Amino acid sequence: MRICARLAIFIAGGYPAGLMPQLNRGFTLTWLGHSSFRLKTRAAKTVLIDPWVEGNPACPREAKAFDAIDVMTISHGHGDHMSDAVTLAKKFKPAIVCNYEIHLFLARKGVNGTSPMNKGGTQEAAGVRFTMVHATHSSGIEDGGQVVYGGEPCGYVLTLEDGTRIYHAGDTGPMADMTVIGELYKPDVALLPIGDLYTMGPREAAWAAKAVQARYVVPMHHSTFPALTGTPEMLREELKKLGASCEVVALRPGESLS
Ligand code: NI
Ligand code: MN
Repeated sequence: MRICARLAIFIAGGYPAGLMPQLNRGFTLTWLGHSSFRLKTRAAKTVLIDPWVEGNPACPREAKAFDAIDVMTISHGHGDHMSDAVTLAKKFKPAIVCNYEIHLFLARKGVNGTSPMNKGGTQEAAGVRFTMVHATHSSGIEDGGQVVYGGEPCGYVLTLEDGTRIYHAGDTGPMADMTVIGELYKPDVALLPIGDLYTMGPREAAWAAKAVQARYVVPMHHSTFPALTGTPEMLREELKKLGASCEVVALRPGESLS
């Protein structure tokens, strides 16, 4: 029975009923596939992180519908992180947390309600504090056959009402700033890309998990396309080599950590 349960975890990358780690802090964080997450806060506000839903092949159909979006955050200008930003922003009128250049782009597309910021700064929306942190990547926005300058890529540290901190790394390679993020913010949960090729692979992500000192790591930016080869199981192996004590929470798209 025990072997069966372990085998099920290995095959599906998810959790059989009852074995999912529970934080019990009043939030629900649902993976929509790739780097998109829906966060429902204790105060029942909805935060959509990196809006790529409609064209996201990993997003389950039932997870594409929203009742409300109170805040949207955007990590950088690539389509697999913001291609639904304009449509969803016009429909739900959220506050949009993003860099200054993406704010200019969205304003040109007729989107109001952007709340631009830059790295090192913090702002509050819907009871959550958003701190913009560094990411090492690129951020051009494809627009009608042109590439528009999208400012610098970033990650965010979200501080919830009760002080719980969730770090969404965006697309990034490993970087010395992760030590800064660990020391300054001590995130409880880190959402880290592990797919390789366009971002960190499992080896780099294991180092990053240790550097940011998170108790729980949720792997993202993996399994969306065949080219993204890093898996949660490979991340676990790399963490073991480093002797790191954090726990990998390998969600399947549509599953939640709460
Ligand atoms: Ni990217
Ligand atoms: Mn990406």
